[in-house]
Amino acid sequence: MIKIYPRFSEEEIRALGLEGAMPKHVGLIMDGNGRWAKKRLLPRSAGHRAGMEAMKAAVRFSHSIGVEALTVYAFSTENWKRPQTEVDALFALLSEYFYKDIDELDANNVRMIVIGDLGRLAPRMRGLLETAMERTKDNTGLVFNVAINYGGRAEIVHAVRELIEGGAKAEDVTEEAISAHLYTRSQPDPDVIIRTAGEQRLSNFLLWQAAYSEFVFTPVLFPDFDEKAYTDCIKEFMGRTRRFGKVL
Ligand code: FPP
Repeated sequence: MIKIYPRFSEEEIRALGLEGAMPKHVGLIMDGNGRWAKKRLLPRSAGHRAGMEAMKAAVRFSHSIGVEALTVYAFSTENWKRPQTEVDALFALLSEYFYKDIDELDANNVRMIVIGDLGRLAPRMRGLLETAMERTKDNTGLVFNVAINYGGRAEIVHAVRELIEGGAKAEDVTEEAISAHLYTRSQPDPDVIIRTAGEQRLSNFLLWQAAYSEFVFTPVLFPDFDEKAYTDCIKEFMGRTRRFGKVL
């Protein structure tokens, strides 16, 4: 059954306590699946499955409150160092998600973009991701970036190499030119980056794009990151004054 996500009215958004400029782009570091599972004496893979459900809820809620782009950190370049069984479980979940949920995402006008180096992925996985991107490329609703085999430093290296391969000279290597070659090109930088599970670091996520982002850290473990927890993070963001280096 395909669910059509609700779109909240301005009054409904205000009733949630969200008064202020809505972030256009939210970055989300989904941390704490393992700890969530451990607390319940469950295998780590059960934590990732619960995390996948929380991620689906975050996509729906982002759509409902009018966030324009959501970027989630699903698998980092460092995550290959985890035990093979866990890597396999994560990719099994990712394939399941891209296979089963694509109809619903498409029906909700979501545009899927996978960011990261897809070269290292199994051809079947890569094909699934490319099909999802191709199928939703003309959608005009929420842009949902899923970072897979993603690392912020590698992304910057990739952008600079593309520039050089395109014949750029030293003076052509500008901030604008690098931005235009990132995986998130033509999207606004994230206004806020939320990290769950209490850790306060960026872990190589959207390094370039995060230059002026606000950071919001919540102790909530990702599988428990529900609409209330998401709303609290956006409220915290809205309470901050963003100066972009200027004196206001
Ligand atoms: C961190 O938790 C989370 C990840 C490494 C992966 C994020 C994946 C999901 C939310 C589920 C699958 C996603 C998709 C797109 C289907 P952790 O294992 O580092 O937790 P811990 O720090 O408590 O051990």
